[in-house]
Amino acid sequence: MKVWIDGEIVDGSEARIPVTDHGLLYGDGIFEGIRVYRNRVFRLDAHMKRFEAGARGIALDLPGGIDTVRAIVLETVRAFGADEAYVRLIATRGEGSLGVDPTTCPQPRLICLVDHVRIYPPDKLSSGLDLVTSSLRRPSPDVLDPRIKSLNYLNNVLAKLEARQRGADEALMLNAQGMVAETSVANVFVVRDGVLLTPPATDGALEGVTRATVMELAATLGIPVREQTLGRYDFFAAEEAFLTGSGAGIVPIRSLDARAIGAGRPGPVFEKVRVAFSEAVAEFGTPL
Ligand SMILES: Cc1ncc(COP(=O)(O)O)c(C=O)c1O
Repeated sequence: MKVWIDGEIVDGSEARIPVTDHGLLYGDGIFEGIRVYRNRVFRLDAHMKRFEAGARGIALDLPGGIDTVRAIVLETVRAFGADEAYVRLIATRGEGSLGVDPTTCPQPRLICLVDHVRIYPPDKLSSGLDLVTSSLRRPSPDVLDPRIKSLNYLNNVLAKLEARQRGADEALMLNAQGMVAETSVANVFVVRDGVLLTPPATDGALEGVTRATVMELAATLGIPVREQTLGRYDFFAAEEAFLTGSGAGIVPIRSLDARAIGAGRPGPVFEKVRVAFSEAVAEFGTPL
């Protein structure tokens, strides 16, 4: 692992942050997960846009501005030196006093980690994931807007833990109204009557970069696609379902709450989207 921190690039084992950083004390900060495919940083501009918007959302001034952040990402990926990688970009509020007050933190801290990642075992890509509905709801925007990719992931962490303890791979998370939001780390799609459906981000999901790419690709493939509020019923009645995320990739879902979805294996729409995605990664990538 290579890490850009406090102005230099070091090996992962050498990277340190002070214990009074409010990113650690309060989860006060934001992050991005970005993929490098075939020596290109996938959708770098979209990630930079979301990172900048998230920083504004929590009133954090990105050190040097977004162009500096972008340059740091590229520099760290080059230092890692692999054609395929995962970038974890973090901005914390920085060091401050032992109180929640962010105005005691004069200097936000930027960190960029580059390493390899594997969220699900490779065989799940062909067999599909088993999901359970989490008992934990996504926070409403009036609590903490889930469109901000903040360092507060305890809601997601506990949903994932519950899913693992129940023998499943992943958690399906509902919003306060009981409608589908997303999983602990990815957006969801279902196919019903040949139409690709995904909940609007305002139903409690992150505005996923992979999700947006899948929607664009579906349109070019002639697959009808739209945002629509979904319930668990839409999964039970679906022909297919899959999830999307930078770390996760595009992964089929074969069951929800121990009930098979569609034929219980990856379907034709998933397959078309997966192939189109793997072909598009070069087109949508910033060369190193
Ligand atoms: C909660 C959550 N939802 C969805 C996603 C997918 O977003 P993206 O495709 O931009 O990685 C992520 C990140 O991977 C996430 O953490």
